[in-house]
Amino acid sequence: MQKIKMGPGGPDFSRLVAGYWRLREWNYSTDELLRFVEQCMDLGITTMDHADIYGDYTCEALFGQAISGRSALREKMQIVTKCGIRRQNSQNKPGVSHQHYDTGSEHIIASAEESIRNMQTDYLDVLLIHRPDALMDADEVADAFAKLRHQGKVRFFGTSNFTPSQFSLLQSRLPFPLVTNQIECSVLHLEPMHDGTLDQAQQLKVPPMAWSPFGGGELFTGTSDKTERVRNTLETIGEETGGYRTDQIACAWLLRHPSRILPVLGTGKIERIKAAADATNITLSREQWYRIWSASTGTPVP
Ligand SMILES: NC(=O)c1ccc[n+]([C@@H]2O[C@H](COP(=O)([O-])OP(=O)(O)OC[C@H]3O[C@@H](n4cnc5c(N)ncnc54)[C@H](OP(=O)(O)O)[C@@H]3O)[C@@H](O)[C@H]2O)c1
Repeated sequence: MQKIKMGPGGPDFSRLVAGYWRLREWNYSTDELLRFVEQCMDLGITTMDHADIYGDYTCEALFGQAISGRSALREKMQIVTKCGIRRQNSQNKPGVSHQHYDTGSEHIIASAEESIRNMQTDYLDVLLIHRPDALMDADEVADAFAKLRHQGKVRFFGTSNFTPSQFSLLQSRLPFPLVTNQIECSVLHLEPMHDGTLDQAQQLKVPPMAWSPFGGGELFTGTSDKTERVRNTLETIGEETGGYRTDQIACAWLLRHPSRILPVLGTGKIERIKAAADATNITLSREQWYRIWSASTGTPVP
């Protein structure tokens, strides 16, 4: 599995990332989850994506229990997590009656420290601000990042769902480079290709992470005209390229982009992870790539 250097001077991530948003739905025992993590690592998928709020604030701790005491395993992986959303009516973190964003220094630091405890580790490889906060004071975020970095609690920082100008604003106040912007991007969600997000990623050499690379499963189950068009095109191109599956061509489509997109896989099924790993060997031609683009937009290129 290829490694990707994140941002200037950032960590090495695996080209594919394992995402743990749906971890609770997988209903794994601690041993089963450890096995899943080990199998991902054996495939070279060493980067693990989390957020404080996943599973109503429970997924990080489930992951932490699974890797508990396995310091050699932990050191070989890169743990990414996020902060900044305060969920309303949480069973596990009560006290918020209206969901909101909080990128205040106090919240960022407390959230990172809690993620470290939950995941039974000493440090986070990367901390992301989960969503753009209209009340974000970039100086305050920079101050929190600097403290966490100085204390060795967090090694690198990034953003998620930021527009290019929001990313630039935060970067302008930091003495070190942000290493990624994690965004929604897939054959069903092309916006970052056209709104400047991926231009900025390429310009700054900050590889983006793509969440919901299969549209959160919509690619397989959706019934809209657009989804059916895209699915049919992926199937045809899969046959042309030697018998690859729909999910593999969708993955290869992201991998073909020059900004060096890292798909964040959401499946808990190791055979689907293996299929995605095989897709890293596919190189789509420009014509194939644009056939998928046209199926998604519903128009030929002008
Ligand atoms: N930064 C953000 O704001 C943000 C937002 C959303 C997600 N994320 C991150 O991105 C990760 C991925 O998001 P996602 O879960 O929406 O991604 P996804 O991979 O697009 O969707 C996963 C869903 O699709 C199904 N699926 C995957 N491969 C399949 C296949 N080959 N055939 C049939 N069904 C398939 C999965 O079911 P099975 O489990 O049954 O395979 C699951 O229900 C999350 O875990 C999280 O880490 C970040």
